[in-house]
Amino acid sequence: MAQTLSTLAYLVASVLFIMALRGLSNPETSRQGNLFGMVGMGIAIVATLLKPGMGAGGIVLVLAGLAIGGTIGTLLAQRIQMTSLPQLVAAFHSLVGMAAVFVAAAAFYSPESFGIGYAGNIKGASLVEMSLGLAIGAITFSGSVIAFAKLDGRMSGSPIIFKGQHMLNAALGALLLVLVIAFVATGSPFLFWLIAILSFVLGFLLIIPIGGADMPVVVSMLNSYSGWAAAGIGFTIGNLLLIVTGALVGASGAILSYIMCKGMNRSIINVLLGGFGSDSGAAAGPGAGGADRAPVKAGSPEDAAYIMKNAQKIIIVPGYGMAVAQAQQVVREMADLLKKEGAEISYAIHPVAGRMPGHMNVLLAEANVPYDEVHELEEINAEFAEADVAYVIGANDVTNPAAKTDKSSAIYGMPILDVEKAKTVFFVKRGMASGYAGVENELFFRPNTMMLFGDAKKVTQQIVQSLQK
Ligand code: TAP
Repeated sequence: MAQTLSTLAYLVASVLFIMALRGLSNPETSRQGNLFGMVGMGIAIVATLLKPGMGAGGIVLVLAGLAIGGTIGTLLAQRIQMTSLPQLVAAFHSLVGMAAVFVAAAAFYSPESFGIGYAGNIKGASLVEMSLGLAIGAITFSGSVIAFAKLDGRMSGSPIIFKGQHMLNAALGALLLVLVIAFVATGSPFLFWLIAILSFVLGFLLIIPIGGADMPVVVSMLNSYSGWAAAGIGFTIGNLLLIVTGALVGASGAILSYIMCKGMNRSIINVLLGGFGSDSGAAAGPGAGGADRAPVKAGSPEDAAYIMKNAQKIIIVPGYGMAVAQAQQVVREMADLLKKEGAEISYAIHPVAGRMPGHMNVLLAEANVPYDEVHELEEINAEFAEADVAYVIGANDVTNPAAKTDKSSAIYGMPILDVEKAKTVFFVKRGMASGYAGVENELFFRPNTMMLFGDAKKVTQQIVQSLQK
């Protein structure tokens, strides 16, 4: 009876997790999606605690783990800046990977507790699942640690490349496969730990050649790996919910990586082989630029306010700099004032604007920007030609026409927002520095561009003040 109830509760939790993912796919339903996820996890925890054979000791251990992990998670979530979320996610994935390694070790040394055989005589299928969970978990752990260090600036974001790197990785991958087969055949503890060590090394080697700008794709891939590791371990310990949840995380992480690669027009293989995101081509300081360039036209917030007051159609293009400056609220205030002046306002969202998927949607939702004013690239790109103003705030790479014209550019092939087609383009940024891909943006030198140098929030606040006069 208790077992049936627990299975039923796991089923309900699984359905809630699926509904959570569905809710998270749209900003309008994302809060509800989060709620479904939390309720699902609550049900899963209670069902686990009520499982037959849990015992008082088990319950105390689970509650202690929840209290320690929950406290650390709550404190971190409260303190973390929006712009640091990608590295936080990478750090959390490393813990999921490590947890998979620990569960595999527990199942290996205490198989009877998991009902998969006896020490020295573990079921063959369980050994396969265990070794896969162990290998993927260890790769996820060390790979995520490197991703965290690169994203958090604790090591250089530039790709670390050496001769014969891909051959070495391929050889180590093949060796890992041989070790897994030998481990399944013998059940040897020595091979168990050799698989763990080799996988840790492989995770490290796989991620070091990947440049900073590709890191979000990698984090999402590691997310997917951590899901598959959890699913593998779910099979080992016969836990239905872990299998379902692991598969959901695995599949959604893989789909997210695919969407990001599509947004950057790059193949996943191309990302994994590394090399994108080095610092080449960055210009520095206001007024910089090649000698053969037209001079940069810089304007004041008052100039911008005057032009926008007389505009009919304005498209706002947010990017990473808006997130850094936390300018979303004041951008909405500016839009509200311009709407009162009779302007039509839309927001153009590039799929990889910012540093994580949906970054801009989250910020705009936080500032209560109406959802019907927010448009994806495909919906809005044709409208720039009819716009009087494109207000590009802290965005750079996602507007760079080199993606269309310069085959040698790191961003070549990435779809971009055609802001240059607007009558006037404002670029709000602090200086002439390039974006994350390190590629100079020739739009800064175009005759219809006006640079508004300064912090995104301060500049927009000054525009708001001018509009209020
Ligand atoms: P970026 O091209 O990185 O440009 C951001 C600009 O914001 C910089 O040029 C910077 O110029 C400016 N900025 C920084 N702080 C600012 C502040 N406080 N006030 C005003 N401006 C500020 O951003 P983007 O256009 O959003 O493009 C995103 C990049 O990340 C793309 O290369 C994309 O491929 C990459 N990427 C994104 C994702 C996801 S999922 N979003 C995933 C992988 C890669 P100054 O220093 O001169 O101010």
